[in-house]
Order: sequence, then structure tokens, then C-alpha cells
Amino acid sequence: MIYREQLKIPSIHFCNDDYRNQIDAIDEDNTIVVTDPPFNIGYHYNEYKDNMDDDEYYFMLAELVERFPSVIIHYPEALHRLSYESGIIPQKVCSWVYNSNTARQHRDIAWYGVKPDFTKTLQPYKNPNDKRIKERMARGLRGGRMYDWWNVNQVKNVSKSKTKHPCQMPLEVMKNIVSTLPENKTIFDPFMGSGTTAIACIELGYDFIGCEINKEYYEIAKGRINANVGLYREYEELNEENHC
Ligand SMILES: C[S@@+](CC[C@H](N)C(=O)[O-])C[C@H]1O[C@@H](n2cnc3c(N)ncnc32)[C@H](O)[C@@H]1O
Repeated sequence: MIYREQLKIPSIHFCNDDYRNQIDAIDEDNTIVVTDPPFNIGYHYNEYKDNMDDDEYYFMLAELVERFPSVIIHYPEALHRLSYESGIIPQKVCSWVYNSNTARQHRDIAWYGVKPDFTKTLQPYKNPNDKRIKERMARGLRGGRMYDWWNVNQVKNVSKSKTKHPCQMPLEVMKNIVSTLPENKTIFDPFMGSGTTAIACIELGYDFIGCEINKEYYEIAKGRINANVGLYREYEELNEENHC
């Protein structure tokens, strides 16, 4: 994928806390939620129990999409239920597809209350030897408009970038998403995990706020953010007394 140029040095704020303790301090007018939430399927995340009561779980997600423009990554059935519970229909839905040894081979990505701009993220031309494509490349065009079907491998255990977080998102998927959003907005990931959304924001120049409830995952995110943001400037780490 080809992304827009770095526009600005981002401000990055994150904390080790339940996002529900922080959410009221976040500016709803200037923030967009980008997240892949826990799936509520009993997944094994250290001490976090991924088995809330279903009604409570969808109430939690619905509150997010009601309060903020939001991009949510989830299985299609869950996104349908979220639309039902919140009464909000996504402006756009894309699929992230991958090979896996389970029956699940894709997740959907839904933009609620915000229209993605797919012209900002280009994909390399598929047929660079075609005469018309050669002409376009000669004119300096770097790729075509992104499709609504992204074939990106999951992060493999042997991958250099793999952390100990069991559900680390591929950076490419998070960068695709973030780059479709207005640059003047702050991105908020309430379920930050290993911090992949933060890294996408750092690389693309978007301001970021993140929360992670689990101490070990928070430390992983902190290490990744530190390694990336160090390229630009010192980041500000906030503690639980402060809002993110
Ligand atoms: C699917 S994972 C996110 C993975 C992340 N996108 C990444 O690339 O690593 C969801 C995360 O949400 C965290 N979590 C669950 N409930 C939370 C809450 N109420 N507030 C903050 N974090 C929470 C879990 O500990 C888990 O790390």
C-alpha cells in the first residue's frame, strides 16, 4: 500500500486503564474511535475475561458509536447486531480477508458516522506493464484507488513484528483505516491492546489517545510506541489520575 506523506508530528496520549474511566474527558467533536474490540467469545486475554453478558457487551459498543464517529473491526454478525442496537447504519463497510486454519477467513470494518476517503490511500497498480498504467506512472501517479476488500495476512507468530498480544492487528490494516479519516481529528482506541492503532497514527501523523486495561499489554504498547515515537519527539505518558 502507498500512504500519504507525513504531515505533522502527532501527539500521543495513552494509559493503562479501563477506557470507561477516561471517556468523559475525551472531546467528542474532534475524536474518531478506531478499534478492534474484544470479541466477547471467551478469548484468552491474560486476566481480562472476554465473556460479558451479551446485552451489556453490545450496550458498551453502541455507546461508543453513538458518542463518537467510529470505525469498528469485528465479525459481520457482530456489526449487524451493533447497528441494530445503536440504530446507526455504517456509511461504509469493507472486508479484511486472510488465510487461516479456521472457518473464519474475514472480518468486516465499518465506518459509523464518518465517511472514509478512499482516494487518500492508494494501492500499487496491479498491471504496471499495461500501456495506460505506464502512462499514468510516467505522469507521477503512484497507484489506484483502494478496493473495499483488503487481502492482508494476519500477524504470524514468526513475524519480526509479533508481540505477546494474542490478537495483534496487522499494521497495514490499521494504516489503511486511519488514512481514510480526516487528518485534523484525534484517533481514540479504547481497546488498544499492543498499540497497533497508535503506531499507524504515529506513522501517518494523526493525534492518538489509547487505553488498555491489562498491564502487560499496556507495557507492550508502551514499548512499541516508545520505539516509534522516539523518531519524532518525547511522548507524554499519563497515569490513571489524569485523563488520557
Ligand atoms: C482485540 S484486542 C486489541 C488488539 C489491538 N488492536 C492490537 O493490535 O494489539 C482488545 C483489547 O482490549 C482490552 N480491553 C478489554 N476491555 C477493556 C476496557 N474496558 N478498557 C480498556 N481495554 C480493554 C483487552 O485487554 C485487549 O487487549
